[in-house]
Amino acid sequence: MEERIISSKADVQDMSFELSLRPQTLKQYIGQDKVKANLEVFIEAAKLRQETLDHVLLYGPPGLGKTTLAAIIANEMGVNFRTTAGPAIERPGDLAAILTALQPGDVLFIDEIHRLPRSIEEVLYPAMEDFCLDIVIGKGPSARSVRLDLPPFTLVGATTRAGSLSAPLRDRFGVLSRLEYYTEEQLKDIVMRTSELLETKIDHEAAREIAKRSRGTPRIANRLLRRVRDFAQVIGNGSINAELAEKALELMQVDRLGLDHIDHKLLKGIIEKFRGGPVGLETIAATIGEEPHTIEDVYEPYLLQIGFLQRTPRGRMVTELVYRHFKMEVPRSDRFV
Ligand code: ADE
Repeated sequence: MEERIISSKADVQDMSFELSLRPQTLKQYIGQDKVKANLEVFIEAAKLRQETLDHVLLYGPPGLGKTTLAAIIANEMGVNFRTTAGPAIERPGDLAAILTALQPGDVLFIDEIHRLPRSIEEVLYPAMEDFCLDIVIGKGPSARSVRLDLPPFTLVGATTRAGSLSAPLRDRFGVLSRLEYYTEEQLKDIVMRTSELLETKIDHEAAREIAKRSRGTPRIANRLLRRVRDFAQVIGNGSINAELAEKALELMQVDRLGLDHIDHKLLKGIIEKFRGGPVGLETIAATIGEEPHTIEDVYEPYLLQIGFLQRTPRGRMVTELVYRHFKMEVPRSDRFV
């Protein structure tokens, strides 16, 4: 995958840096008001009853704060936060090792939970339902199953694709919360908050400019802020005003809507090679040299959200808005009527 400044993928370096900037409590967390209000009640009720919180599934596009929310849940419950990811668990034994090391009440966060192999999901069912683990000892006719008790724990699963989760796994979560793209106002508040933590001066207009180009995604907003801050330090006086922010964003090839060269390649590819579509996902992927699932999970959701792309039974189509955005002549066709 090509590097992109507006990638909503977290990398290891970013994670540790961002962890210190992340909100620690629901009060500090900006946006996702409905999710927050519900979680507040469920956390309070579990604490009143001195029970562990029911399992929580957080789903939605990447970069919207699923990991942050999971860490906040642990913090608000006053328990340890243990994290792993679907692709990191290859054998049932890997999951057994994680589960048996938990302390009572702990939050176990499994990122990309839709990528857990089915054989491992099956280990998870009794663990989630009855806090026990069925392990098979030995092989062949002498194999026998032993049941181990686990401490009660809260599983917080995160996925960009709730639809890819098997029904039995999905049904074992007591709380299902969908994260939405953030508004410009919320992203502006996040940029202001992060700037304060970074001890960087920024004016409201500049924060709004960054917010506008962050594709509804806090991870992108914070990443753009850090890069704009670099420009401010090197070519400015260290503080960020709107003029500097605009210049920096332009130099980074992030356009007014937050689209970058990969979005441009995708959209222009559909226009130039397929007359605007419809064209199948696999074909687009091959044309621009990306994996189909990367296009589906990372690039497409925002383009669908802003009405630039449409999914039809015959494939993806760009809309009239794309032609206008690129200042291209809108083809005279009845499909836009
Ligand atoms: N930093 C990243 N996401 C945030 C959020 N939702 N609220 C506050 N700060 C954040």
